[in-house]
Amino acid sequence: MKVVVIGSGEMGHGIAEVMAIYKNEVTLVDIKDEILDKAISKIRESLDRLKKRGSIEEEPEDILKRITKSINLEEAVKDADLVIEAVPEIVDLKQNIFKRLDQFTKPDAILATNTSNIRISEISKFVNKKDRVVGMHFFNPPVLMQLVEIIKGPDTSPEVVQKLYEITKQIGKTPVIVNKDTPGFIVNRINAAESLFICLVLQKGINYEEVDAYFRSLGLPMGPYELMDYVGLDIVAHSLEYFAKEISPEYGKCTKIKEMVNNGLLGRKSGRGFYDWTKGRPQINA
Ligand code: 3HC
Repeated sequence: MKVVVIGSGEMGHGIAEVMAIYKNEVTLVDIKDEILDKAISKIRESLDRLKKRGSIEEEPEDILKRITKSINLEEAVKDADLVIEAVPEIVDLKQNIFKRLDQFTKPDAILATNTSNIRISEISKFVNKKDRVVGMHFFNPPVLMQLVEIIKGPDTSPEVVQKLYEITKQIGKTPVIVNKDTPGFIVNRINAAESLFICLVLQKGINYEEVDAYFRSLGLPMGPYELMDYVGLDIVAHSLEYFAKEISPEYGKCTKIKEMVNNGLLGRKSGRGFYDWTKGRPQINA
């Protein structure tokens, strides 16, 4: 199958990696060659780790041969069977990309969005082939996380949902079909409420390292603040902003995370958020 992933950031490069591991021909699209080169290095690093722990049989270089880079979206998508958009959570940006997908893809291509929160009906607003548009929401890191939400918009054809469900199983994941096209779908509807709560208690002066240490002591891989750093504080901030607009102004009461983002503290991707990530996962010894 020919898969095109648009956006080679945190999620996009991981999704391209998963698709290539499962023998698909993948084109990774972004706006600059330098960004794509960085994404390919991250995929190589991740494949090396998977190979080392025996999770893949093929050599990383052979898997990488199935990934092509492109900065020409129109050209890349023209014979794609499945397009997965994974650009930042900005409604206009996604709508614009889907307008172009509408025009340049084959009539039977599946047009999926990896949006974390935005309604599918909003993303497909200016698309004629609305029946081809569907949510395919992976979790970070896509290569290790099992769950994929498949979100049916009000106009998505049942055939598209079924086909994507099967594709998701073929790539070794556990698909869950979400029939209600609502902000945050299932998982992030709950995550956003948790993010809001832990941001508000932080603003009241709670020690976040102690909270994370407590959650780790329960056996969870990461505490909630470390997880926000891992996912990206910019992503969390966007999500809270969207929820403030769509669900309740309460979500706008969390100012601390936005402040951190404005100061360049994005979490793991910028090397610093709540924690210092420059030497790998933080030691939390509260
Ligand atoms: N690629 C390949 N291998 C990886 C990897 C990657 N990206 N990340 C970690 N690994 C491997 C490591 O090499 C290590 O292998 P080893 O056991 O052979 O040494 C193994 O996985 C464990 O990694 P670590 O020792 O670094 O750390 P952990 O044991 O904590 O595992 C983790 C890392 C899987 C990320 C784990 O911490 C975890 O599950 N964290 C929670 C992640 C989560 O909840 N994600 C969802 C976030 S919400 C979201 O994504 C929604 C979106 O819309 C924003």
